[in-house]
Amino acid sequence: MPAVVVVGAQWGDEGKGRVVDWLAREAQLVARFNGGDNAGHTVVAQGHTLKLHLVPSGVLYPTLTCLIGAGVVVNPAQLVAEMDELAALGIDVGPSRLKLSAAAHIILPTHRALDGARDAARGRGAIGTTKRGIGPTYADKAARVNLRAGEMTNPEHFAERVAEAVRAHNRRLQEQYGMEPLSPEQAAADYCAYAQRLAPHLTDGSALVGEVLDAGEMVLCEAAQGLLLDLDHGTYPYVTSSSTVAGGALTGLGFGPRHVSRVIGIAKAYTTRVGAGPFPTELLDEVGDRIREVGGEYGTTTGRPRRCGWLDLVILRYAARINGLDEFALTKLDVLSGLERLKVAVAYERDGERTEHFPAEFGVEALAQWKPVYEELPGWAEDISGVRSRGDLPPAAREYVARIEEWVGVPVTFIGVGPEREQKIC
Ligand code: GDP
Ligand code: IMO
Ligand code: MG
Repeated sequence: MPAVVVVGAQWGDEGKGRVVDWLAREAQLVARFNGGDNAGHTVVAQGHTLKLHLVPSGVLYPTLTCLIGAGVVVNPAQLVAEMDELAALGIDVGPSRLKLSAAAHIILPTHRALDGARDAARGRGAIGTTKRGIGPTYADKAARVNLRAGEMTNPEHFAERVAEAVRAHNRRLQEQYGMEPLSPEQAAADYCAYAQRLAPHLTDGSALVGEVLDAGEMVLCEAAQGLLLDLDHGTYPYVTSSSTVAGGALTGLGFGPRHVSRVIGIAKAYTTRVGAGPFPTELLDEVGDRIREVGGEYGTTTGRPRRCGWLDLVILRYAARINGLDEFALTKLDVLSGLERLKVAVAYERDGERTEHFPAEFGVEALAQWKPVYEELPGWAEDISGVRSRGDLPPAAREYVARIEEWVGVPVTFIGVGPEREQKIC
């Protein structure tokens, strides 16, 4: 059994956590490959509602191993807190089943402070980051000055390096942003304790992935965020700082493309976005408000209200291309119940010119010139949360899914009709 890659096809929060939880039942290893605790992945199963930020969403299956891969940036405080919460629920997060790649990068308290300061300094151009230190940590990684998890094997030396880095960040905080410095000694003491706690979890992540693949078992690769937050292919600069697409699974975990057998794009039945940046099908009216309330569209990590809009097939087509999608999992179809008419964007238009391709590469100002071209479809009134087969969906809901498949050219193999593990059609 090979590698299966799960990616977000929109701006994040598509329901990756719940789909990974479903697919994980067949996996030997579930591995997060990018991002950090900016992610919030929800799993509702076995009487628990887990809100996971760093621990992979397969954690409810006791027989599989979870890996936080090299491409992830880790705030040890958040990881330890999350492990404690899971342990309190009776979920095993011991070193033999929760592994941390030695090559993953470490987020410091000053990375978080710099994140907040830098975004605030952007003023009206603020990205609206999660303030988890993601951008500054990946920047230090690219500048080749950051600490990696592997250094935690020597907690005292790690603590010295933490203090040194905090001092360097403090200079930037004070000089560039006029902020108070953070205590290097406190950070060193805290991170020494985290290192003692986390060192037993360290592993050579790429070697672990390779072993599982060589044994013919399935590796399930879990993305954070979504295509349009990708550093290269998203709506730059309103993006996150990592590779959120299928290619990111290969670089973030360290294995080759020939092992990938399935790439699954997770898409909501409508579109949402948290934070600033372009959103062509955004609804700033009562329909948008209704979707937000019915869908519970508030950030899992920050609690911010999510911006809501119609489904955008131009984006899904783009997701199919960039990720080489084999299939879609379409979540939250139940949220659309009760809307009389539904719109989907099938193309964009600019001065009489029409395109079916998402115009990402020329930047957000160029993107703003394009307006969505909508098709209207009939809605359905029925509650579909108890439906378990596609044939039992109301005809209009069936038609909605079929039109997505037809317009994008990718089959929908999973339909979410509620947040619970069993509330799905597949
Ligand atoms: P992720 O970041 O992609 O894992 O998604 P989030 O967990 O941030 O947000 C998805 C939200 O939708 C969570 O609250 C899920 O419990 C919920 N959810 C997932 N699938 C469905 C579905 O099919 N129907 C409904 N009503 N809720 C869903
Ligand atoms: P999951 O994995 C939705 C957004 C932030 C902001 C931008 C940059 O749950 O889908 P960052 O803190 O990463 O520098 O913020 O990206 N963002 C997300 N939006 N879901 C997420 O993760 C996100 N992670 C980051 O709101 O607009
Ligand atoms: Mg989320």
